Amino acid sequence: MCGIVGYTGKNEALPVVTGGLFALEYRGYDSSGVAVLCGGKTEIVKKTGKLENLMAALEKAQLKGTCGIGHTRWATHGEVTETNAHPHTVGKTVLVHNGIIENYVSVGKMTNTDFKSTTDTERACALFNELYERCGDGLQTITSACREFVGSYAFLVMFKDEPDIFYAVRNGCPLVVGTADGGFAACSDVAACDFGEYYKLSDGDVAKVTKDGISFFDKDGVAISKEALTPKKSFSAPDKCGFPHYMLKEMEEIPTVLKNTLEAHIKDGLPYFEGVEDEIFKNMNRLCIVGCGTAYHAGLVCEHISRQLTGIEGDIYIASEYRYSGHKLNKDDAVIFITQSGETADTLACIRMCRAQGAYTLGVVNVPTSTAVEECDGVILTHAGSEIAVASTKAYVTQLAALYLIVLKMSLVKGTLTEDEVRGLCGELLNDVCADSKLSDTDKITINRIAEKYADCRDMFYIGRGIDSVLCSEASLKLKEISYVHSEAYPSGELKHGTISLITEGVGVFAILTDERLYLKSIGNIEEAAARGGSVIALCKEGFCKDKNYDLIPCRISNDLFAPFAVAPRFQYFAYCMTIIKNLDPDKPRNLAKSVTVE
Ligand code: AGP
Repeated sequence: MCGIVGYTGKNEALPVVTGGLFALEYRGYDSSGVAVLCGGKTEIVKKTGKLENLMAALEKAQLKGTCGIGHTRWATHGEVTETNAHPHTVGKTVLVHNGIIENYVSVGKMTNTDFKSTTDTERACALFNELYERCGDGLQTITSACREFVGSYAFLVMFKDEPDIFYAVRNGCPLVVGTADGGFAACSDVAACDFGEYYKLSDGDVAKVTKDGISFFDKDGVAISKEALTPKKSFSAPDKCGFPHYMLKEMEEIPTVLKNTLEAHIKDGLPYFEGVEDEIFKNMNRLCIVGCGTAYHAGLVCEHISRQLTGIEGDIYIASEYRYSGHKLNKDDAVIFITQSGETADTLACIRMCRAQGAYTLGVVNVPTSTAVEECDGVILTHAGSEIAVASTKAYVTQLAALYLIVLKMSLVKGTLTEDEVRGLCGELLNDVCADSKLSDTDKITINRIAEKYADCRDMFYIGRGIDSVLCSEASLKLKEISYVHSEAYPSGELKHGTISLITEGVGVFAILTDERLYLKSIGNIEEAAARGGSVIALCKEGFCKDKNYDLIPCRISNDLFAPFAVAPRFQYFAYCMTIIKNLDPDKPRNLAKSVTVE
C-alpha cells in the first residue's frame, strides 16, 4: 500500500507531486521518489526513509519540468533500499505503482531484462517496456500488459517517446484523475491533491493524461466517458495545528468528534441513520461484523453490548480471514463493515463478497469519499474528520459511538428497551459520556508519570474481564504499534491457565477495571499476577483499587454501560506517552501505514 501522484500541465510538476506525497505519506513511508521530464530527459530522484530525505535530495537536484510522477512506499516485495524505491525505469518506460503483482516472477520471465531490484514493480515495468518497444503505442501497451498481471494495482506510466503524457490505470487500488494547478493530475486519494474536478477510475479503466486534457478508455482500449465529480470539501494539506504530533491533536479532538458523530445520528432524541431502514435492524437476528485491526476491535465492543442490551449475539470477523472463510449468506442477512479509511483491501473484498451473495452491506466508515462508502448498500459515517496518525484514536471512539447507536436502535425496534430508556441513554451519550472522554491535565500528568516508570518495560499484559477484556485488545494494539513494546491482551481469568508463566519481575500488567459486578474477581486475578512480580497499572473506575498498591489511572464513568468512552482515550494517551518517552515517532511507526490497500 503506497501512494502515487502525477501531474502534467503548464506549471512546474514538483510542487504538485511533492505536495501530494506529503498528503499520501499515511499510506507508507519506507521510501519515496519522483521522476520529472526535464528538457526531454526523465530525471529520477529517490530516497529511503521519510519524505524529508527526498526533499533534501530534490533541493540539491533542482529538477525543472512540467510533467512528473511520484511515489511513497510501504514495502511489500523487496526490502527497503533505494534500488527498490519507486519510480522504476526500464528502457523507455518509467512508472510508479501501488499494489501487488502476484505473478511477478512469471511476468519477469516474459522479458529480457536484467533486474536491478527485487520488486514486483520492476518486473511489471519491464513488461510494459517490452510491449512498448514492440508497438510504440502507450495505450496499447498499457492494455496488453495489464492482461498479463494478476493482483492489485494502480500505475502511473510515462513513456520516453510520449513527452508530457502519463497513463493512469487501476485494478483494485484507488486512483483518481482530474484538473489541478493549471494542468491535470492523478492521485491515490482525492483528498491528497487540490483537484478542481475529478474522475474516479474503476477497475480496468485507463486514463491518458496530457497537458491538454484527459481521455478515458476501457480495458480493451475502447474510448469511454466518465462522470466528472467535484471534491466535497476544499483541499487542505494535513496540519498539526501547533501540536507536536497528529496523534496528540487527534486525541484532543475526541470529545468534539464524539459529539459530532452522536449529533449526526441522533434525531428527536433517538438513533437515526439516514438511508438505512429500521427493517434492517429489526431483521438482524445475529450480528455479523467485519473489520481489521482497530476496526475489528470496535466490533468486539459492539458484540458485547448487543448481547447486554438486545440479547442478540454476534460473529465478529477479521476481514482477511472472513474473505476466504466460505461463509454462506443470503438476501435476509445483513453484515456491518467497520473501516476508518474505507480503502482497506480485505474489508473491501468482504463487502464485494457479501454483496455478491445478496446480503445487505452496512458500512461504518470515516472517509466520506472512500470506496467503501461507494460500495456499501447503507452507510453510517463517523465524523472523526481526517485521521492522519497511523494509530487510530479518535476514529475508534467515533466508531464506538456509531455502534452503540446501532445497538440502541436494535433495542428500540426489537423492543428490548422502551423509547424512554433509549432516549435517556442517547441523552447521556450526548452529555455525560462526551465529558467522560475528555482527559484533564491531572489525568495527563498521572498517565505520563506512570509511563515514565514503565518506559523500559519489555513486555506488557493487558488484562480485564467482560467489557474490559474486550477493551484490552485495542489497548494492547495501541501500545504495540507505536511504542514497539511487546504486549498481549488477555481475559484476566485465563492467565492462570498458562500465560501467567511469563509474568516475572519487570513485566507490566495493565489491568482495566470498570465493571462493578466483576470487580472482586478481577482484583483476584491481578493479585495472582502481582504475586509473581508483575508491576501493575490499573485503569479503573474512580473509587476502585484505592486500597491497592497499583499505579492508578482513575477515570470518571457516568454510566458503566458507556465505560469504553472514558477508558479508550486514557489507554491511547498511555501508549502515546510511552512512545514519546522512548523518543519514537507516534505518527509514523515503523513497518506500518494508515490505509492497508493490499492483501
Ligand atoms: C490502527 O491503529 C491501525 N492503523 C490499523 O489496525 C487499522 O485499524 C486497520 O488497518 C483498519 O483500517 P481501516 O479502519 O481504515 O479499515
